Amino acid sequence: MAKPKVVVSAPLPADLRERVEAECEILEVPVGVSPLEKLTQDELSSVEGYLTTVRTKFDEEVLKKLPSLKVVSNFAVGYDNVDVDAATNANVLICNTPKVLDGAVADIAIGLMLCLTRDMVNGDAYVRDGSWAAKGAPALTSDMRGKTLGLLGMGRIGRVVAKTAKAFDMRVLYHNRNRCDISEREGLAEYCDRDTLFSESDFLSVHVPLTEETQGSIASREFKLMKSSAYFINTARGGVVNEQDLIDALEANEIAGAGLDVMVKEPLPADSPLCKMKNVVLQAHVGSGTVETRRAMIQLAVDNLLDALSKNKPEAMVNPEVWGQV
Ligand code: GLV
Repeated sequence: MAKPKVVVSAPLPADLRERVEAECEILEVPVGVSPLEKLTQDELSSVEGYLTTVRTKFDEEVLKKLPSLKVVSNFAVGYDNVDVDAATNANVLICNTPKVLDGAVADIAIGLMLCLTRDMVNGDAYVRDGSWAAKGAPALTSDMRGKTLGLLGMGRIGRVVAKTAKAFDMRVLYHNRNRCDISEREGLAEYCDRDTLFSESDFLSVHVPLTEETQGSIASREFKLMKSSAYFINTARGGVVNEQDLIDALEANEIAGAGLDVMVKEPLPADSPLCKMKNVVLQAHVGSGTVETRRAMIQLAVDNLLDALSKNKPEAMVNPEVWGQV
């Protein structure tokens, strides 16, 4: 029997490539490029599986050109690049890579908080450029220990951030669509309404997915609720924030600073006002970017792809209602 054809548009280590090749015929498409740009309609027509990253849109237009498609395996936990409703209507299974990246993303969120409150990035420059020798000790900074952390979103990543924050003796508040009883029972975090979260937190960290409801949902109103001494942290998706409102709030000193691993436009253009602000710490969307975590993610993405194609229930399905129809 002919092997099923799969589009691979994700960085695949050699051993995993071999695993895929043992069961499938690979059609290679560079990361971030649509298969519609690279493959002929003949090739597209026979594709059954698609391993991709968040850098490629998977929408109705792509779907229409892939009539044999059974599964899209996204090499990411977020799937805002995918039109899940359109896929579900076409009985195409969508898989993602949850759990394995929770710790790495939580670490970046905590790291951004520490960098900001202890002014570590500017502190490093102060030593390197000779300011320490010329001007003496830098200005004092503020403790993270004992402060209030507000988590907007209390999924898996939010819970790991809460656990880590407990080691810093922080009071943790959260707001989520649904109450997270386990976290409350474990004494990890207290629930509060959304406005209270913004107004009481010393650090406000975002852990919600990008959806129609969350798009641009953190804007001027929210920044005005925050304390002028508070820091805003985003390791989720840039699109949940109205970035111009964030820039305005920073320029008006409505908040003390921001730590951002994600932006509306990525890569962030170097002429963005955010790049010039000393009270902003930036990362290049590397929350999950460790060797160990990325390996675990790509392994799970490959498992999901091969399982779906061989009719074994994949571990991580976004639209499990499609399973059985595939
Ligand atoms: C990274 O942003 C992911 O969604 O996995």
